[in-house]
Amino acid sequence: MIREKSIIQGNEQLAPGFWKMRLVAPEIAATVKPGQFINVKIAQCKAPLFRRPFTVFRCLDLDKDRPGIEVVYEVVGRGTRMMSAMGKGDELDIIGPLGRGFKRRDDKRVHILVGSGVGLPALFMLGEELSLAAGRGELELVIMLDAKTKERLILEEEFGSLNGKTLVSIHDGAYGYHGYVTEMLRAYIAEEDIAADCAIYACGPELMFKALVPICSQYNIPAQICMERNMGCGIGACLSCVCRVDKKAVMKHRDVRSSHVQFEDAGSSGYALVCCDGPVFNIDEVIFDE
Ligand SMILES: Cc1cc2nc3c(=O)[nH]c(=O)nc-3n(C[C@H](O)[C@H](O)[C@H](O)COP(=O)(O)OP(=O)(O)OC[C@H]3O[C@@H](n4cnc5c(N)ncnc54)[C@H](O)[C@@H]3O)c2cc1C
Ligand code: FES
Repeated sequence: MIREKSIIQGNEQLAPGFWKMRLVAPEIAATVKPGQFINVKIAQCKAPLFRRPFTVFRCLDLDKDRPGIEVVYEVVGRGTRMMSAMGKGDELDIIGPLGRGFKRRDDKRVHILVGSGVGLPALFMLGEELSLAAGRGELELVIMLDAKTKERLILEEEFGSLNGKTLVSIHDGAYGYHGYVTEMLRAYIAEEDIAADCAIYACGPELMFKALVPICSQYNIPAQICMERNMGCGIGACLSCVCRVDKKAVMKHRDVRSSHVQFEDAGSSGYALVCCDGPVFNIDEVIFDE
């Protein structure tokens, strides 16, 4: 884990409520993997006290060839409001890269990214990797972007520049598919007959993950999901980010000895830390609230 005093290179509004911040962060840019995040101390003073977690959207060369990173964020409260008021030359204290990111399923031909709202940035670095492989003819990339309204749709141009097929779902039907991304996904899998040879990578609200569960079970499709929790520390120390997990699935997918997962005595479930064991989990590992 690296701590950098990072200088802001740019902070621009993408859509109402959504911003993109560019940061000089050479060490984090050199090591971050798709789906990992940084934890940002927004103010030097005590408020807000805790760092705020943000996925790295992408890495890029800034002016004078300095490596940097970008984060895309939605203004939802005090910290993100303060971030949106910052500008070029301001400094942020960031730690990262944190957490366990996406693992490419190289045994599958069709790779489907499913993202909604501010979950979309978490999928972009993986999309860039898959796009390179798609350009070499090694796989097919399908990108599904979702938003409540057209005004809230972000990053369409960026995802559209990758070597893949981009589909958009908007809940009110103003643009693209009329409805939820999970309905569009179900129809696409059936129409294209790809269930046996595809993998899903998703980031968005938990309701979207819940709607993915029956699709993945019905077609036996592996899916990785990028989970969110309020985080106190981001490094496994405060236990504020627990999520309930299924013991059998966890034992199947990971080496429990090198994780923070704790199982209930004689039970079939346990708890994982989203900041260290995640944020990316296999969908069958997570037990969602009723
Ligand atoms: C691993 C991870 C990656 C994330 N990546 C991004 C990203 O790329 N872009 C982005 O916009 N947001 C991302 N988030 C969510 C982001 O961290 C929160 O929106 C942010 O911390 C809110 O800070 P605030 O001070 O503005 O809001 P607060 O005043 O702290 O909270 C405002 C509202 O946001 C909710 N909230 C606070 N923290 C979180 C959280 N961690 N997850 C969900 N809701 C929260 C609160 O419950 C409250 O309703 C990520 C969260 C996690 C855990
Ligand atoms: S945020 Fe503190 S343990 Fe995960």
